[in-house]
Amino acid sequence: MMSLTSSFMTRLSEVAEEIETSLEALLSDEARSGEIARPSRLILAMRHAALGGGKRLRPFLTIETARLFAREGVGPLRAGSAIEFLHCYSLVHDDLPSMDDDDLRRGRPTVHKAFDEATAILAGDALQTLAFEVLASPETDADAAVRSDLVLGLARASGLGGMVGGQMFDLAAEGRYGEAALTEADIRRLQMMKTGALLTFSVEAGAILGRADATARENLRAYGRALGAAFQVADDILDREASAEALGKRTGKDQEKGKATLVDHLGLEGAHQECRRLVAQAEAALDSFGSRADMLREAVRFVVERQV
Ligand code: IPE
Ligand code: IPE
Ligand code: MG
Ligand code: MG
Ligand code: MG
Repeated sequence: MMSLTSSFMTRLSEVAEEIETSLEALLSDEARSGEIARPSRLILAMRHAALGGGKRLRPFLTIETARLFAREGVGPLRAGSAIEFLHCYSLVHDDLPSMDDDDLRRGRPTVHKAFDEATAILAGDALQTLAFEVLASPETDADAAVRSDLVLGLARASGLGGMVGGQMFDLAAEGRYGEAALTEADIRRLQMMKTGALLTFSVEAGAILGRADATARENLRAYGRALGAAFQVADDILDREASAEALGKRTGKDQEKGKATLVDHLGLEGAHQECRRLVAQAEAALDSFGSRADMLREAVRFVVERQV
């Protein structure tokens, strides 16, 4: 597999810096327009969850997809920030004692460890609603139809039939609620929901902001679906193969909890091969964009080659 170019790594860290600044501004201490007050304990917990860590891959996908259509600046930055808030909320709740019960995230104590469980639940809730507020604000896009498309897309990707639904299937995959023998198709559906849906929407949000036509939007969705699937297979491989120090989160936990993953079905070598197949599928979906989509091509290789 081709290794990543330095221009890709530079661009990824540039976007991460821009996103950090944007999240920081949105998580200021003072109440913003339309708010009554910001409780300091809550804002501190939200900042702990959202600032100073993470690959910022989802905003990168939004920003680079919008750039295919020459849309740059505050709109894609705000949409990417909203998606990152939604993602951070999902991590805070995923780590809770009643969920995966993890103490380490992005190399730091999880929010319920650094604060307490009730604060972690509220910080997750508030990050989620903040995500929708940012998308719905006219600063994100002057066209109300575009904003409504973004809000609808994020709601679908993150709720019942997307991330939250996937998390429900994921808990069941540990055998908590009885019989858990999942088929390969069950696991693929679970992963498409818990991880794939938000990654796909991260790409689609760029297409929405870019006013992509129906064909371009569907090609980008196909790219996002393949990237999303590859992402979770890589996450499951890293859970088996990487160290907590390298990854900044506990590893070996899927096996410990008896969680069914694709690695169980395909074996480690089979899972690596599946990643390569999905990379090729994602790259093929970008054919019509030519070399303009090179950053997105590298993004999917990054997803499977990453060690963090
Ligand atoms: C981890 O996501 C959670 C999953 C969806 C598997 P990332 O690997 O993107 O986490 P950060 O944002 O870089 O910490
Ligand atoms: C988390 O999946 C997916 C979401 C947060 C929606 P995992 O439970 O595998 O993620 P990690 O390994 O804790 O990051
Ligand atoms: Mg989990
Ligand atoms: Mg987890
Ligand atoms: Mg995992």
